[in-house]
Amino acid sequence: PRVAVIVVAAGSGQRLGAGVPKAFVGIDAHTVLRHALHGVFDGPLAQVIVVAPAERVGDALTELHEAAGDRHELASVVEGGATRQASVAAGLHAVWPDVELVLVHDAARALTPATVFTRVVAALDDGDDAVLPVLPVVDTVKRVDGDVVVEAVDRSVLAAAQTPQGFRRAVLEAAYARADADHTDDAALVQAAGVSVRTVPGDDRSFKITTPTDLDRARALLRPDAP
Ligand code: C5P
Repeated sequence: PRVAVIVVAAGSGQRLGAGVPKAFVGIDAHTVLRHALHGVFDGPLAQVIVVAPAERVGDALTELHEAAGDRHELASVVEGGATRQASVAAGLHAVWPDVELVLVHDAARALTPATVFTRVVAALDDGDDAVLPVLPVVDTVKRVDGDVVVEAVDRSVLAAAQTPQGFRRAVLEAAYARADADHTDDAALVQAAGVSVRTVPGDDRSFKITTPTDLDRARALLRPDAP
């Protein structure tokens, strides 16, 4: 395929406090990772690379094969690193030669709809080098110094970054080859390399499961009677 999706699932999930890596926590009958993979496999045809904690590679393979169905030949698992950036770099090394577009997705954004993957690929096909799904910021945001408010920040010029973030493969590889600092997402990393990043609309359901409250929200959304 011309598209690869790297699903980073190698985080420890300490803020969730579930005692197992976050991607392997159950939301309902299925784990965070399995739900994330459902969105991925419902999206554009792609090579799918799951980046898992070393001790969970076997579990990730099981999840991946069950989610992939007849696309299982497109799917593989690699071992992650100490930071998200190191985990993405490990995934990038496993991308097949014919792939032109690479999407990087947080497994923790488990309920991301397939339409977002389609939208990101469409924007790359329109010629953008780097594509970031965003949502408007709804809270009033302050710049602070410790517990002192320094100033209010105009939220109309802010956007909340989500995943999947999409890149022309050569652009992402070049940025990773040059990366010297740790960035919390790939859009920041390519931007630091001088690439301009275009936004597309994100989705409410793409929120990142980080705290127990987020997990409750995901559970509520998956109930059969959810709105
Ligand atoms: O910690 P946070 O929720 O921001 O992590 C975002 C995503 O990056 C998660 O899906 C997590 O599993 C992944 N990650 C990773 N390797 C790390 C740290 C985070 O794959 N070392």
